[in-house]
Amino acid sequence: MNAIDLLKKDHETVKHLLAQISATNDTSAKKRTELLDKIEMELTVHTALEEEILYPAFKQAGKKQEEKMYFEAKEEHRTVDSMVLPDLKKTKPDSVEFSGRVKVLKELIEHHIEEEETEMFPDALNILGKRHLEELGVQMQTRQKELKASLQRKAA
Ligand SMILES: [Fe+2]
Ligand SMILES: [Fe+2]
Repeated sequence: MNAIDLLKKDHETVKHLLAQISATNDTSAKKRTELLDKIEMELTVHTALEEEILYPAFKQAGKKQEEKMYFEAKEEHRTVDSMVLPDLKKTKPDSVEFSGRVKVLKELIEHHIEEEETEMFPDALNILGKRHLEELGVQMQTRQKELKASLQRKAA
């Protein structure tokens, strides 16, 4: 599987989980916590794959325009990982505040996914080429397994 197809598959998983958590209300605290844990796990692994493997290759092969996209995308990751998600985890799942924060998380991630899929990934295909993306996809699959295993060990 090439790197872009793998990342797009993750996007579908995350979008599905976000739709599920958005459909909950303050009477389903347990379900919210479970879904939030899953979202966090998926995002942590996905973001690591992008930042360790695709993004550096993209920046290196690109020019100024790609460098700009690289920093913008990293900034969006940082907003979610170090601000929105940690705040949401501290929010009581049986509160209305939780719903508001979920909505913002969902909007941020959907916007980010949209930009990756319509701007960065087509550009990456262009400048990196199919063969290179295949190689990166192989690296990603190995790294994905390692990261998931280590997160599951931590959670256990
Ligand atoms: Fe991303
Ligand atoms: Fe992504």
